[in-house]
Amino acid sequence: MGVLPFPSFAFPALFLFSVIIFPSVAQGGVTRHYHFEIKYQNVTRLCHTKSMVTVNGQFPGPRIVAREGDRLVIKVVNHVQNNITIHWHGIRQLRTGWADGPAYVTQCPIQTGQSYVYNYTIVGQRGTLFWHAHISWLRSTVYGPIVILPKRGVPYPFTKPYKEAPIIFGEWWNADPEAVIAQAIQTGGGPNVSDAYTINGFPGPLYNCSAKDTFKLKVKPGRTYLLRLINAALNDELFFSIANHTLTVVEADAVYVKPFETNTILITPGQTTNVLLKTKSHYPKATFLMTARPYVTGLGTFDNSTVAGILEYESPSKSLHLKKLPLFKPLLPALNDTSFATNFTNKLRSLANAQFPANVPQKVDKHFFFTVGLGTNPCQNNQTCQGPNGTMFAASVNNVSFTLPTTALLQAHYLGQSNEVSSPDFPSSPLIPFNYTGTPPNNSMVSNGTKLVVLPFNTSVELIMQDTSILGAESHPLHLHGFNFFVVGQGFGNFDPNKDPANFNLVDPVERNTVGVPSGGWVAIRFLADNPGVWFMHCHLEVHTSWGLKMAWLVLDGKLPNQKLLPPPSDLPKC
Ligand code: C2O
Repeated sequence: MGVLPFPSFAFPALFLFSVIIFPSVAQGGVTRHYHFEIKYQNVTRLCHTKSMVTVNGQFPGPRIVAREGDRLVIKVVNHVQNNITIHWHGIRQLRTGWADGPAYVTQCPIQTGQSYVYNYTIVGQRGTLFWHAHISWLRSTVYGPIVILPKRGVPYPFTKPYKEAPIIFGEWWNADPEAVIAQAIQTGGGPNVSDAYTINGFPGPLYNCSAKDTFKLKVKPGRTYLLRLINAALNDELFFSIANHTLTVVEADAVYVKPFETNTILITPGQTTNVLLKTKSHYPKATFLMTARPYVTGLGTFDNSTVAGILEYESPSKSLHLKKLPLFKPLLPALNDTSFATNFTNKLRSLANAQFPANVPQKVDKHFFFTVGLGTNPCQNNQTCQGPNGTMFAASVNNVSFTLPTTALLQAHYLGQSNEVSSPDFPSSPLIPFNYTGTPPNNSMVSNGTKLVVLPFNTSVELIMQDTSILGAESHPLHLHGFNFFVVGQGFGNFDPNKDPANFNLVDPVERNTVGVPSGGWVAIRFLADNPGVWFMHCHLEVHTSWGLKMAWLVLDGKLPNQKLLPPPSDLPKC
């Protein structure tokens, strides 16, 4: 049978039986069919009711559960006024870039009344990922977990959990998030910050008019639970902790890591982290809060609030009154605790054993050095804008603020028309080098364009991403589509090509799809470009993506038949 033993304990009823799965046997795995109806749903939080774009009327959206090796066939039907696409964040999409989802990169959006079937196989991945809308800010309400179980009969490389639960962080605006970003783009200023963070869609008791909207995790003493943490917030990296409990990190971005214990985890938008929670051996006569709040390094305004859920032990007898139990609250690091962030990320290491090797590229064919950070564009029509000094906020990679084309890059490439919508000359290093983390240069203006890096199939890439202090140093969670990469090094200040590579970890670096470029520092990643297609790379802080902190890699076909991008599906949406 195709029904997976995925427990739905202590989970909001909305999550239950949300999707119908009709498994059928395919080679190696099964094929799982899902239906995503994009439609409006009234949702109330913080005493504000709004009609929002959802999948199947659910918020958060339905959970996708599959096993490594399975094929997913997901029909998305658009019943709302907005154009939409869905991205399966972290899924490799080997040769199936058509199913990746970023609007105007791998596909034209699905227009009102239209549908599109996303069809792909999960190859060599197991763990937690998530799906989300990939156009404008629609992902603020259109997102949900992807749970990839190991192949049947293959155990986890850690204690078998008694039960599992996704914990998906989100961000809630009382206003319509589409109006929030539209206004920011128009005025050139920063967007209004969110009104709350959420856990599985619930802000929890620390907000006004919200106590009844609290996620509760009910547990038994003396058991191990697997929590699948997902940061689907738009603009904030988050610290997360459960009072009086230790977490064991076992996986990041659907790759197992060497287990380590911690009281607090840091998770950037776009990252996922699996942790084991060992409950107290005896009924503790207490209730525990789990909370999350932001890690902030930039100069801009941010939502300085705290989301809370409740860890509740099942009481052994009815006579114990829950209300009288003391409530413990976790202590989270300071908002700008960069040394915690550094320490935490340094602990993440690949398992790197015989069963789960770390295939770190040992030689490099092409080196890239990208600056990432904020900048400005001139205000249009001689007016005054609300960005720095009357300009408009922009963001860039190597000073190129990326403009999305009006047709999809992957389609243009497949039809041999790439040069009509983009140019293949994305700079491999800054055109004008400067002291990236020192006194900001006088000119903060970016250039605008649709430029790609073109890579031959199987190029081994090393990429240094360097934060800039042009408008204040800030940590940027960079996400690469189509690949996992190895995080071989990181540091503060300017990257030193003569000294820093000597300290790279080429043995057991963490393998992931989203990495925080340290505030005022750099990170070095390596990946093998073995997946033909057009692959987006961008800051997963949505406001920075909106401002242009994004670019794309074009990986060419290899010579062998199985090294080529597959032909587009017949229902691929048209622009
Ligand atoms: Cu989760 Cu391009 O994004």
